[in-house]
Amino acid sequence: MKSIHGFLLFLTIANGIFESVQAQDQSEFISLACGLVPKSTTFTEKTTNITYKSDANYIDSGLVGRIRDEYKPLLQQQAWTLRSFPDGKRNCYNFNLTAKSKYLIRGTFIYGNYDGLNQIPKFDIHIGPNKWTSIKMDGIGNGSAIHEMIHVLTQDRLQICLVKTGETTPFISSLELRPLNNNTYLTQSGSLIGFARVFFSPTPSFVRYDEDFHDRIWIRHLHNESVPISTDLLVDTGNLYDVPQAVAKTAAVPANASQPLSFDWTLDNITAQSYVYMHFAEIQTLKDGEIREFNITYNGGKNVYSYFRPEKLEITTLFSQTAMSSPDGNFSFSLTMTGNSTLPPLLNGLEIYKALDLLELETDQDEVSAMVNIKTTYDLSKKVSWQGDPCIPQSYRWEGLNCSYPDSEPPRIISLNLAENKLTGSITPEISKLTELIELDLSKNDLSGEIPAFFADMKLLKLLNLSGNLGLDSTIPDSLQQRINSKSLTLILSKAVTVTHNGKSKKVPMVVIVASVAGVFALLVILAIFFVLKRKYEKHAKASGPTSVPTVIVENETPSFNPSIVTKERRITYPEVLNMTNNFERVLGKGGFGTVYHGNFDDAQVAVKMLSHSSAQGYKEFKAEVELLLRVHHRYLVGLVGYCDDGDNLALIYEYMANGDLRENMLGKRGGRVLTWGNRMKIAVEAAQGLEYLHNGCRPLMVHRDVKSTNILLNEHSGAKLADFGLSRSFPIDGECHVSTVVAGTPGYLDPEYYKTNWLSEKSDVYSFGVVLLEIVTNQPVIDKTREIPHISEWVGFMLTNGDLKSIVDPKLMGDYDTNGAWKIVELAMACVNPSSKRRPTMAHVVMELNECVALENARRQGSEDMYTRRSVDFSHTSASEFSPRAR
Ligand SMILES: *[C@@H]1O[C@H](CO)[C@@H](O)[C@H](O)[C@H]1NC(C)=O
Ligand SMILES: *[C@@H]1O[C@H](CO)[C@@H](O)[C@H](O)[C@H]1NC(C)=O
Ligand SMILES: *[C@@H]1O[C@H](CO)[C@@H](O)[C@H](O)[C@H]1NC(C)=O
Ligand SMILES: *[C@@H]1O[C@H](CO)[C@@H](O)[C@H](O)[C@H]1NC(C)=O
Ligand SMILES: *[C@@H]1O[C@H](CO)[C@@H](O)[C@H](O)[C@H]1NC(C)=O
Ligand SMILES: *[C@@H]1O[C@H](CO)[C@@H](O)[C@H](O)[C@H]1NC(C)=O
Ligand SMILES: *[C@@H]1O[C@H](CO)[C@@H](O)[C@H](O)[C@H]1NC(C)=O
Ligand SMILES: *[C@@H]1O[C@H](CO)[C@@H](O)[C@H](O)[C@H]1NC(C)=O
Ligand SMILES: *[C@@H]1O[C@H](CO)[C@@H](O)[C@H](O)[C@H]1NC(C)=O
Repeated sequence: MKSIHGFLLFLTIANGIFESVQAQDQSEFISLACGLVPKSTTFTEKTTNITYKSDANYIDSGLVGRIRDEYKPLLQQQAWTLRSFPDGKRNCYNFNLTAKSKYLIRGTFIYGNYDGLNQIPKFDIHIGPNKWTSIKMDGIGNGSAIHEMIHVLTQDRLQICLVKTGETTPFISSLELRPLNNNTYLTQSGSLIGFARVFFSPTPSFVRYDEDFHDRIWIRHLHNESVPISTDLLVDTGNLYDVPQAVAKTAAVPANASQPLSFDWTLDNITAQSYVYMHFAEIQTLKDGEIREFNITYNGGKNVYSYFRPEKLEITTLFSQTAMSSPDGNFSFSLTMTGNSTLPPLLNGLEIYKALDLLELETDQDEVSAMVNIKTTYDLSKKVSWQGDPCIPQSYRWEGLNCSYPDSEPPRIISLNLAENKLTGSITPEISKLTELIELDLSKNDLSGEIPAFFADMKLLKLLNLSGNLGLDSTIPDSLQQRINSKSLTLILSKAVTVTHNGKSKKVPMVVIVASVAGVFALLVILAIFFVLKRKYEKHAKASGPTSVPTVIVENETPSFNPSIVTKERRITYPEVLNMTNNFERVLGKGGFGTVYHGNFDDAQVAVKMLSHSSAQGYKEFKAEVELLLRVHHRYLVGLVGYCDDGDNLALIYEYMANGDLRENMLGKRGGRVLTWGNRMKIAVEAAQGLEYLHNGCRPLMVHRDVKSTNILLNEHSGAKLADFGLSRSFPIDGECHVSTVVAGTPGYLDPEYYKTNWLSEKSDVYSFGVVLLEIVTNQPVIDKTREIPHISEWVGFMLTNGDLKSIVDPKLMGDYDTNGAWKIVELAMACVNPSSKRRPTMAHVVMELNECVALENARRQGSEDMYTRRSVDFSHTSASEFSPRAR
């Protein structure tokens, strides 16, 4: 005997006492065929008359795909395409809707071996921050599932997320949203997950729109212990639930009239709760004296409804007012005719749902909109983790955010770090909506405009980092200055100061933390130190003592102006070098000036270059060089992290570049992989930027003097950096060129003009860089005595006279490159190797041109993707046959 402790289930009645709702047209439906391209495409599925559109406006990630052709005839058209999510743990669809409105949400997942892997993926779907369900597929299309839920929006925004749970890639075929009447399907809390929605007629096999104008899907349910009955008469379905006629006109009665009509179901989780909705209408014409009356019992217990008589040709809906639970996950109902009844019980339609508690509160709505607007304003759609709720679940929190999680209140954003995100334009006022923000880091971007005064009103804000934004007007609004003065806020600011050298103006970044007026003062002090007492900085800083400049921190971001890097700390003893390299255990290579060893320094890998005595310059020169180099930091320059000058032992310690040099990579000596055209363009532009910085950005300006493909190193992410600019001497700023005593450089890369005249200018580097560009395009040796024309630049020039690009581009690319970009880069390279230095472009120009090559390549890749997907969608195919979703 099953016991139902304290079970209080009242079936409540809903019948036609309400105004009948006007039949809905599709205009309020959102019907997305995921992965449909181009994004303006729509189509009307013939079997349902539902018009689907592309999902592209609701999501900014994922790849489009399509199922194998052999599965298409089985399926409605919205299942032919899909969107998959190989990147990121969580990817979300976003809908702008109205808070508190109620929706039926349906996700369809048809695998159809779209990826050719023949492996059915497993993943989860979330609704906002809460898990909706795990997707497990089987059956049709070699893996399919349909999941429905009824959900009341908590915010003006709805997010439906696909979440990776293992190795397999989440995907979705279609997503459908249908508005429901707010007064139907009421729960005490949470949402409803569809479990079953059935009717009892031999045909059709399912009913949905436009017979059901809420587009609920009803599935035919027949079993041998009941028989279907039906009527041709119209049934009044005007209660709130809008049961479709096709459902209302048919019903099940027990096959043996003296038996009760019963149904049962089992939920997988014994703690899960359920809601049930039963729709009844008398559809037989009762003769005189005929009575249909029955009791309804739950789990073999007491009546939950007694003496129920269905209304003649009018739907009455009985439903559970509270969530039903069961000690073993089994639920059963029996409809038993009463003593006075002459007819057996009947049931026209039945819906069963599982209750879903939405335990996780969504992040404060205003903060979510602010974050979404910030994401749009600064075009941060490429941030893989910026999907779904910003703070919840904690394990999927957006990168760069920190949140507070107060009890039973929505999470709030307390820190936002957008440093180095290439932000452009002004500082958006959306930030002011993050009212609980304590720390904000917008440093190292390209923000411009004014520092907004709203920061002063952000009461909790303690740290504001705006440094490294050269275009930002550094005027501090009065209200903000007051916060700074009262020490309730620290502002880190990058001031652009104008430095004049020989009548030429240059903007040079200067980093300070303005924490008080004293801080501003300290800035001036630092400038003074730099210009007047540069060499004595250390002493001076000590002398001025902590009281006068307590809050000034100079970051090492602007190396050439950065006196705070104390070379002493970077000076390493010989025993430390031994320890670091584990007694020179691993040789990385042999450079022009000595052997390079692998080492570990402060938990980071480093390359230790031991300088052989013969190659070492005079000690003084070495030291001057090193002190200079320690200040040069740039994204695309291999950084010097320390040095050793212990007795006879001289060493330079560089950051470690795991992927070797460009030459090795071009030759396939690193894993044998061919660098793609895209890789090559990226490497070229990065190395060019490093060189451009030496020429124009750092102080004093430098000429590299040994640009070559073995001096372009790649890190583990194949990011390129220029190396070995170390042993070039700094380039005097007080003249265009100067006569160098020793001609340095590598044969083949050496500027012929410099070689002849000994006049050194940055254009000599441009020449060498041109040679590198030719190597990148052709993958040919710079000098090959067996070639009809040994030097690469002359050889390319000769080949180009025939206009024959194909014969010079690296055959290993197998033609997979952008022809326009290839022409552009070859022309650029040839300009760089012009014998006359005056005719060579500047590195700034080279960077600009290479950026265009990168853009062309990106467009090409984008374009070919479009072509592929456009070809793959066959809109003319219309013969979709039965699509039979199964409720679970
Ligand atoms: C679709 O609409 C057309 C025209 O309104 C109608 O003739 C047809 O029966 C509809 N098909 C379905 C499946 O509802
Ligand atoms: C949602 O609203 C935001 C701002 O209100 C807008 O930028 C965005 O395009 C809207 N999204 C859709 C899918 O309508
Ligand atoms: C449901 O409630 C929301 C918010 O109160 C309202 O915007 C919406 O129109 C209502 N929908 C229906 C069908 O009553
Ligand atoms: C797809 O399903 C059919 C029928 O269930 C089966 O015969 C076939 O082997 C399956 N194909 C794949 C690729 O799993
Ligand atoms: C109904 O079908 C089940 C199997 O599907 C069978 O075990 C049962 O005996 C059948 N009952 C009747 C009344 O035919
Ligand atoms: C119908 O049910 C009654 C009561 O259980 C039983 O006595 C009778 O044999 C059943 N009739 C048929 C045809 O199964
Ligand atoms: C059952 O449901 C409870 C509460 O919803 C949940 O904590 C638990 O993990 C579930 N168990 C299983 C096996 O799904
Ligand atoms: C129906 O319910 C009433 C009231 O609960 C009860 O008195 C009666 O015996 C029930 N009839 C049947 C056939 O269960
Ligand atoms: C059966 O019907 C008679 C006459 O309408 C009524 O007096 C009696 O109370 C009914 N019995 C039950 C159990 O409803």
